Amino acid sequence: MSDTEDRDPALGRVVIAEDALGARVRELGAEISTDYAGRQPLLVGVLKGAFVFMSDLARAINLHVEVDFMAVSSYGHATQTSGVVRIIKDLEADLTGRDVIVVEDIVDSGLTLNYLCRNLLGRGPASLTVCALLVKEGHGEIDPAPAYVGFTIPRLFVIGYGLDVAERYRNLPYLAEYIG
Ligand code: IMP
Repeated sequence: MSDTEDRDPALGRVVIAEDALGARVRELGAEISTDYAGRQPLLVGVLKGAFVFMSDLARAINLHVEVDFMAVSSYGHATQTSGVVRIIKDLEADLTGRDVIVVEDIVDSGLTLNYLCRNLLGRGPASLTVCALLVKEGHGEIDPAPAYVGFTIPRLFVIGYGLDVAERYRNLPYLAEYIG
């Protein structure tokens, strides 16, 4: 999928270019490496949207990290949240005493993250922080507030870099507005 004249008409403007994503993810990785020095955090990726971010972030962290994944569904095939969060795949790791970093693609209403964090905090981690690549302006209440945020973006529906609409565009290497 190239950004040429035969560009997909569903794609609006580029919201964050590939090099800007790479640079910011490296900064987040460096911050986490400093903050967690001497520890072995467990990165919990929220599937499917966080899979690209998580793989770049993990490689930007200069510590021993472990990774695990959860899959949740909040939107189905829609572009608006239904407010209902379902766990589709649970973690394999035991969180007891672990330093957990929840790696999320994007926060909009905050419902997905709030639900997940409540659920994970109930499993007895030593600590739990959130690293969100994107937070939308005017987002809902986020508890706990993400310790690491890649970018704050306008209230657009964005695709690419792991984010989809109806399972498409996850492999786009940059973030674009979806205009349908
Ligand atoms: P929230 O529960 O409203 O905060 O929405 C979070 C989840 O909705 C994210 O993990 C995404 O899966 C999805 N989502 C929210 N906004 C977008 C978007 O602009 N593009 C693609 N997915 C989105």
